[in-house]
Amino acid sequence: MLLYFAPMEGLTTSLFRRLHARSFPGADRYYAPFLAPDGQGRVKDSALRELAPEHNRDLHLVPQVLCNSAEAFLALSRELAAMGYGELNLNMGCPSATVVPKHKGAGMLLDLQSLDAFLDRVFSETPLRVSVKCRLGLESAEEFPAVLKLLNAYPLSELILHARDRKGLYQSTPDLDAFTLAFASSAAPLAYNGNILSPAHYSVVMSTIPKLDRIMIGRGAIANPALFRQLRGGEKLDAAELFGFLEELFSSYLASGLGEYHSLGRMKELWYYVNHMFPGAGRELKRINKARSAGEYRASVSALFSSGRFDADACFPGALPGIPR
Ligand SMILES: Cc1cc2nc3c(=O)[nH]c(=O)nc-3n(C[C@H](O)[C@H](O)[C@H](O)COP(=O)(O)O)c2cc1C
Repeated sequence: MLLYFAPMEGLTTSLFRRLHARSFPGADRYYAPFLAPDGQGRVKDSALRELAPEHNRDLHLVPQVLCNSAEAFLALSRELAAMGYGELNLNMGCPSATVVPKHKGAGMLLDLQSLDAFLDRVFSETPLRVSVKCRLGLESAEEFPAVLKLLNAYPLSELILHARDRKGLYQSTPDLDAFTLAFASSAAPLAYNGNILSPAHYSVVMSTIPKLDRIMIGRGAIANPALFRQLRGGEKLDAAELFGFLEELFSSYLASGLGEYHSLGRMKELWYYVNHMFPGAGRELKRINKARSAGEYRASVSALFSSGRFDADACFPGALPGIPR
């Protein structure tokens, strides 16, 4: 089974990825959060630095792009090829209201003729393998057969399907029936994504699609960084290793020059997910969220871990058929 860490803007930074790969081996690939190039394919230096091989040592990283201009895609793919990358993932799933109306992300599904022209140009000139991360549709999974017919006409290295429509954002129950249909007719190897939040969620998906051989996990692995290890038959997450991981990540952010305020911001975004591993610890978690300095933050994290509320079997909440939220 191939297990992928999903791209998570603001969360799976290069510092996070490197530390995660070292502390919790088990993910075969990490997908970088999207690059958003301008019309000429230029991205900020800071975004390219995040992809620099020296910041992503000892892990398999796949960069991702959010754009609908073939020129921009091609210019960026040449730059990434020069950096040593072999694959670029196209984001066709972002549901944001600031992205979709521009026909980017899931908005690429608004006009399949333009998408066809984009892919035609991209595949005839790119030096890289191209994979796609896509949703089932904008309003409904009924849109997907037409999308898949179009994608099947191109030599995608892989299709990662987030089994929701755009309307479902990150909340609706993933549609395993629609995914199963896609699995039967995708020309490219198909990876599953959506609400694999615990071993129980994984079992539901695997018993529905037994031949599935690749899975992408996002929020479940942010909340429980040992989830990949656990799915491979390893130990559950241990409170002491979680504490060590979070402290090392925080120290790394501080040492990177990000500053106290932004380092705290990064950690609090992470805690939005991690807090689910501490059921009933509302008071302690609120203290973390209110921390204004590194000292306050560390004291409140220590208090939380001393509370005895950690539960290795807890997970980020989310439904799948047979598993209520
Ligand atoms: C905070 C956040 C940031 C995300 N950033 C990206 C991104 O940069 N690119 C992308 O393709 N998907 C992004 N996603 C979507 C995830 O990669 C994934 O498809 C989604 O969370 C569903 O998988 P999960 O249920 O395993 O979390 C993001 C999701 C969240 C919640």
